[in-house]
Amino acid sequence: MSSLLAVLDAVDAQPFAVGLRLRSYELLGELTGRTVVDAGCGGGRAVGELAERGARAVGVDLDPEMIAVARQRWPAGEFQVGDACELPLHSGSVSGYRADKVLHALADPARAVAEARRVLAPGGRAVLLGQDWDTIVIDSDDPRTTRGLVQAKADSLPSPHAGRKYRNLLLDAGFTDPVVEVHTGVFTDDTALAVLHRITDEQSWLAEQAERARTNRIFVAVPMFLVAARR
Ligand SMILES: C[S@@+](CC[C@H](N)C(=O)[O-])C[C@H]1O[C@@H](n2cnc3c(N)ncnc32)[C@H](O)[C@@H]1O
Repeated sequence: MSSLLAVLDAVDAQPFAVGLRLRSYELLGELTGRTVVDAGCGGGRAVGELAERGARAVGVDLDPEMIAVARQRWPAGEFQVGDACELPLHSGSVSGYRADKVLHALADPARAVAEARRVLAPGGRAVLLGQDWDTIVIDSDDPRTTRGLVQAKADSLPSPHAGRKYRNLLLDAGFTDPVVEVHTGVFTDDTALAVLHRITDEQSWLAEQAERARTNRIFVAVPMFLVAARR
């Protein structure tokens, strides 16, 4: 399967993804001079963009290689290797918390949301963002196999349905005033193929999709769940 960072880079460059990140920054509230944390920051793009908007932006990721890339790409950000379930931050020390395409990777997303609440000051905003791995729509000549491949990918993840649970996770952790939005990313070019290579390495199925990409017939839609709430 293709490398995670390469796929993230390809998806991040799409106008849809640019707009979605901007919306997530808006939902964090005032940024200038405020400290915000991006948990599971990956290559650090959101941290860099938040720093450009005047925030003291801190990125935390479990993967030291991601943090090394992030430090190199986004020198205005602060980056630390760390666990979203045990953030290297003092209680009440941040006014914004963000986790983008991260909670599905955690065995217990509620722990990360409790940790978000711990590090946020009263009145601070948490923004959770990501796909639900059972709601990925792919056009294919073989819908049955496609359904099976999407389900198999979902079943391989610790928390594939985190996206549909964001609102309840935040409410259960004591957050208030949730705002729920769903923005659907539609991929009809080679980025779609890169996304599909993260879902399966089943060669004959991928060959059909590659032919669709070649003939401008590939179609992948991914609803992205975005929920913001107040500490
Ligand atoms: C799909 S990537 C998303 C990266 C970034 N948020 C973005 O939107 O481009 C998920 C990231 O979460 C990180 N991650 C997974 N489990 C984590 C944990 N327990 N604590 C912190 N980061 C974690 C991975 O290393 C990876 O960089």
